[in-house]
Amino acid sequence: MDVSEAVARRTSVRAFKPDPPSAAVVRAILEGAARAPSGGNLQPWHVHALAGAPLAQLLQRVAAAPLQVPPEYAVYPPELWEPYRTRRWRNAEQLYAAIGIPREDKAARLQQMAKNATFFGAPVGIFLSVDRRMGPPQWADLGMYLQTVMLLATAQGLDTCAQEYWAFCAQPVRDFLGLPPERMLFAGLALGWRDESAPINQWRSERDPFEAWGEMRGFD
Ligand SMILES: Cc1cc2nc3c(=O)[nH]c(=O)nc-3n(C[C@H](O)[C@H](O)[C@H](O)COP(=O)(O)O)c2cc1C
Repeated sequence: MDVSEAVARRTSVRAFKPDPPSAAVVRAILEGAARAPSGGNLQPWHVHALAGAPLAQLLQRVAAAPLQVPPEYAVYPPELWEPYRTRRWRNAEQLYAAIGIPREDKAARLQQMAKNATFFGAPVGIFLSVDRRMGPPQWADLGMYLQTVMLLATAQGLDTCAQEYWAFCAQPVRDFLGLPPERMLFAGLALGWRDESAPINQWRSERDPFEAWGEMRGFD
């Protein structure tokens, strides 16, 4: 699979089969992704990958803990404006429509959202953390690392879902992993093979056309 195919095939998968990928494959993905660029080659990412008993223990602890309000960091700006507000709204509408949850059924929506805290049933849960003293450029570096992990996973036939939701469960995760106080939990990543029969995996997110966000000048 070449890079273009991996980019086109990657989607956020929200229902997984339980079969675990091998330790060697997971390690190769996480290690290979460290070829991602970072400003000044700081390599500001820290990574924890959990499977089997440690993953089950962590998920139990998270399930027993209250949701963290406020979360580890502001996942979105307080009042989203256009066009972001509509994009976010449409994305959520389409996701819930794909699994037959109507807009007014808040309880069902919350129940679906809570599945984030199980890594959507994925056999591997990965956490990315970063030193709190780092700024937006290093957060961008983490994003590049994260996308490289997702593309390498795709090249292995695996599936992923990046999850900021973990910012709402940061304390039990931090305690379990033994993160030092200066280390902020940035995101989780579910990793495994998609459950092809799950309705939530049938839906594909939209993208705005190039003209909405891009411009090219000086080309023939
Ligand atoms: C940093 C990051 C955090 C995300 N957090 C979540 C999350 O907590 N839960 C979730 O279901 N999807 C999450 N997503 C997935 C986005 O919703 C998804 O990327 C977007 O809707 C586009 O869909 P696609 O990934 O299938 O192309 C996250 C994606 C990124 C890049």
